[in-house]
Amino acid sequence: MKIGILGAGQLGRMLALSGIPLGHDFRFWDPVKDSPASALGGQIEYEFNDVSAVSDFARELDVITYEFENVPTALVEALSVHCPVYPPIEALRDSQDRLLEKQLFTDLGHSTARFANIETLHELKVQVNEFGLPCILKTRRMGYDGKGQVFIKTEADIHMAWNMLQPGLPLIIESFVAFERELSIISVRSTTGETAFYPLFQNTHKGGILRTSISPAPDISPQLQQEAIEIARTVLERLNYVGVLAIELFEHNGELVINEMAPRVHNSGHGTIEGNVCSQFENHIRAIAGLPLGSTSPASTVNTTAMFNLIGDIPNIASILGLPGVHLHLYGKSPRPGRKVGHVTLCSENVTHFHDTSSSLSKLIH
Ligand SMILES: Nc1ncnc2c1ncn2[C@@H]1O[C@H](COP(=O)(O)OP(=O)(O)O)[C@@H](O)[C@H]1O
Ligand SMILES: [Mg+2]
Repeated sequence: MKIGILGAGQLGRMLALSGIPLGHDFRFWDPVKDSPASALGGQIEYEFNDVSAVSDFARELDVITYEFENVPTALVEALSVHCPVYPPIEALRDSQDRLLEKQLFTDLGHSTARFANIETLHELKVQVNEFGLPCILKTRRMGYDGKGQVFIKTEADIHMAWNMLQPGLPLIIESFVAFERELSIISVRSTTGETAFYPLFQNTHKGGILRTSISPAPDISPQLQQEAIEIARTVLERLNYVGVLAIELFEHNGELVINEMAPRVHNSGHGTIEGNVCSQFENHIRAIAGLPLGSTSPASTVNTTAMFNLIGDIPNIASILGLPGVHLHLYGKSPRPGRKVGHVTLCSENVTHFHDTSSSLSKLIH
């Protein structure tokens, strides 16, 4: 198949790296010249709101997908005239707006942080009073890696938070979930309706940016894993979803509280490239191409997989690769503070190897 991808960053690159061996060809749309995926297919360099390029891009494509959720829905509508675009536009609409997204989860009967739409400073004060402190004020749209959100710890923070995110942006307030840990469930549904679910990932963030993901998340009861699968299944079915869907969760008092979803392959699942029988990237490609899904189980010799993001700079490559069971992925991006430039995956056969090597890696990376 000829597959189009909106966005040519590292996710597009890893999608193409898994799809090329299956015989697919790729074309990318990204306004930034020489993006990480560009070497793996043709890239057209138009702004995402420039629908004049639609027929040029869609020419001879069999299916189109995207690597980020802030693709304008108007672009997806225009492209859909030419060929199918997956995941479906409803999933894109909901995941672009934190309010619609949380309403979807509560409609489906799932727990989220308490939330409210905020349009005025007065409403913000009222809701902070209702929710209690601390809470978090977020922009409804366009936030990522912790950007577009402000913690409100004291009454005095209310004005600061309002001034930082205003004027003019639609906002949402959320109660703070004092979680034990953060988890994610990565699921996939194909055009045939087949579904598959990866074991839960355990994620740690610093400054709102994902740092590490461990899979399978330690000490997860079969019931909690099943609960996560059922959450994902309800969203997949409701949205008639096609492709990989990631849902970020908080574990709070042993229960799952949904944080947000991403209608795409997800950073917490990068370790599936070596750690699982079929990676999230290959399964996304299989799903949108209508092919049978691959197994989401850990690879045969792998007991635990840990993924470490490389943020801001690239550590000494020889030292990283000198550690047993370690794989390196660089995205071809120049280092810049806060920028994800690559990741390292550690696949361990046993607990001792995992602890020893992950502590060596942590010293090299952070
Ligand atoms: N309601 C909340 N309660 C507790 N922590 C939160 C809450 N919302 C966000 N966070 C923290 O901030 C991180 C980033 O927020 P998130 O809503 O996932 O936005 P982003 O789109 O930037 O990933 C989360 O992974 C979590 O660590
Ligand atoms: Mg998040």
